[in-house]
Amino acid sequence: MTVITPQLVDSFGRTHTNLRISVTDRCNIRCFYCMPNENVQFKPKHELLTFEEIVQVAQVAAGLGVNKLRLTGGEPLVRANLDRLIAGLARIDGIEDIALTTNGILLAEQAAALKDAGLQRLNVSLDGLSATTFRAIARREGLERVLAGIAAAQQLGFEKIRLNAVAILGLTEGEILPLARFARERRLELRFIEFMPLDAEQRWRHDQVLNGETIRRELEREWGELVPVTRTDPSQPATDFDFADGRGRIGFINPISQPFCGDCNRLRITAEGQLRNCLFSMEEWDARRVLRSGGTNAELAQLLRDCVLHKKPGHGIDSPEFLRPERAMYQIGG
Ligand code: 5AD
Ligand code: SF4
Repeated sequence: MTVITPQLVDSFGRTHTNLRISVTDRCNIRCFYCMPNENVQFKPKHELLTFEEIVQVAQVAAGLGVNKLRLTGGEPLVRANLDRLIAGLARIDGIEDIALTTNGILLAEQAAALKDAGLQRLNVSLDGLSATTFRAIARREGLERVLAGIAAAQQLGFEKIRLNAVAILGLTEGEILPLARFARERRLELRFIEFMPLDAEQRWRHDQVLNGETIRRELEREWGELVPVTRTDPSQPATDFDFADGRGRIGFINPISQPFCGDCNRLRITAEGQLRNCLFSMEEWDARRVLRSGGTNAELAQLLRDCVLHKKPGHGIDSPEFLRPERAMYQIGG
């Protein structure tokens, strides 16, 4: 007898197997593409989902075919005892992969506990290697700690550590080659991400996007033609290339110049328990209300299905009707 697993399929046929969980809207730096510089209004603690509530949502999602989780923020490592949440998530049947996106500042202190708890993969945000660029973007100090965090994680033997670099015209061009050299020397994967209109101060303009093609050409001038890597997982947002000499891999996440919404399999839940079917969605589904009003897992499952069913075909950033979501990146989860 074939068992039919209920799945989270949207009205365009996309099956959702990837849940991104924001654990906090707080952060210890203030990157301009994500947060306001001053006077951020954070959610009070009682509005955030507890670890038990997060595990419950993830369990229900796993029952609907979700097999990959990623923890995001804000900065996830500012949430106390995050390793305990990871341990709880790692015990869920059907979850095959747990990853974390961090700014790296608290990584040196926490890497060992995270690894012991069952964390498999790490993405560390690193937009450049110069302190000046770091300050211009993060508006706080911290580059040295990020670099120490990456080194500590490598020493602990994390298998896959990826660097995420947001690329911004007029700001990070000079970082392209140094970042690539750094990644090659340390055998880290590097991904360039196009700047998206999710900054809190609404500074984003189309002409600030340093697109992936421009970066690729610059890398090729230095290291020769990059070799395209055959895509094994169509839902992964990056287009990857190997350096011709076999040393290192570079990926490009080009949401603006080459939108990949058609293959999206991602679903999100904000730190205060709102389900979102897209970074740019204008609607949310209130999982916290269900959780806190004694709702059943069946009701949570229905909410997840509803959320997925209402997913739009794409973000439509270039369409004249495009509206920015009210929330900025730190309030959604990257
Ligand atoms: N555009 C593109 N990437 C962004 N990130 C945060 N804000 C933006 C934005 N506006 C990235 C961060 C981090 C991940 C969470 O998302 O650099 O790597
Ligand atoms: Fe913090 Fe990440 Fe936003 Fe930077 S991008 S301010 S590290 S949450």
